[in-house]
Amino acid sequence: MSTPRNITVLGSGIMGPGIAAVFARSGADVTIYDVVQDALDRAAEGVKVAEGVLDKLDAARGDRQGELSFTTSIEEALAKAEYVLEAVPEREDLKKQVIAQVESLVGPEVIIASNTSGIPITKLAEDMKHPERFVGMHWSNPPHVIPLIEVVPGEQTSDATRDAVVALANSFGYEAVLEGEVPGFVENRILYAIMRESLALVDEGIISKEDMDICVRWGIGFKLAVVGPMRLLDMAGLDTYNNVASYLNRDLSKTDGVPQVITDNIEAQTFGFKSGKGLFEYGEGDVAAKRAQIVSQLIQVRNAMPKPLSSDQV
Ligand SMILES: NC(=O)c1ccc[n+]([C@@H]2O[C@H](COP(=O)([O-])OP(=O)(O)OC[C@H]3O[C@@H](n4cnc5c(N)ncnc54)[C@H](O)[C@@H]3O)[C@@H](O)[C@H]2O)c1
Repeated sequence: MSTPRNITVLGSGIMGPGIAAVFARSGADVTIYDVVQDALDRAAEGVKVAEGVLDKLDAARGDRQGELSFTTSIEEALAKAEYVLEAVPEREDLKKQVIAQVESLVGPEVIIASNTSGIPITKLAEDMKHPERFVGMHWSNPPHVIPLIEVVPGEQTSDATRDAVVALANSFGYEAVLEGEVPGFVENRILYAIMRESLALVDEGIISKEDMDICVRWGIGFKLAVVGPMRLLDMAGLDTYNNVASYLNRDLSKTDGVPQVITDNIEAQTFGFKSGKGLFEYGEGDVAAKRAQIVSQLIQVRNAMPKPLSSDQV
């Protein structure tokens, strides 16, 4: 499959607009579909912001700038689609319903990809007529800043579909990693392991939440942008890992529930940035400033990294 000229993104919330901006910059005309007109109005603004970020990243461009259109009509959204990415809310029933709707409106050669954060691809595909053209294409948030896509084939996904998604991601300068199906997919499993241990140590009073963030950012995160955990093991010495892991692993958090501090916040309806209070409190304007600071620093870090991104792999 060559790079699709017409791509449809279904769902225009946190993820859809940034993804659409990346596709359009690679040369595809992108139609964004949502059931809520307000979401599409916000998306138009979101795409502009993402385009500004892509400029600052000097992100790869295709041979043309694709055009963007917005619609609440699924028929219109899919009329010319050669590639479809669904980014509707993370509910299995809803995603299955949307996938069935798409299948009824596009030809069997059209790839349908899902941005699900962890619903098994095989499960989402179980009622499909052509499950061989269905695949997980999991972007990271913010999708126009984080250049990584997890490609997750289900049991019935064809090799051609899998390879086409990897090639598509590479065509706009993103790294694609291939994964087997595992709950949460790989990236979130690693992130949630970090979050589980961090929450446990803060809860036990071993470290403050402010110092936890400094420790993880500068002791771990900074390093991980340059060397991944597999290479880090070689760098540290496998004998050292063996010595430490033999007493430390048994002591790490094994809690299998949601930590109390999170359930307390859920009960109090304090969800973090979106409600101005979560683990930290935010005053008027603080959330917008924090978001802008995070994106700006991510841009600086990414601009300091080699291009193409994994060209420094030994
Ligand atoms: N937010 C993240 O950090 C993140 C990261 C990676 C992957 N994801 C995944 O991406 C998907 C979308 O997440 P999000 O955070 O953008 O969600 P969101 O709730 O912000 O946006 C979803 C959008 O889909 C729209 N929608 C609802 N029903 C629809 C339908 N039937 N057809 C078309 N649009 C419909 C909603 O109106 C909304 O605008 C989810 O599967 C999520 O797990 C999210």
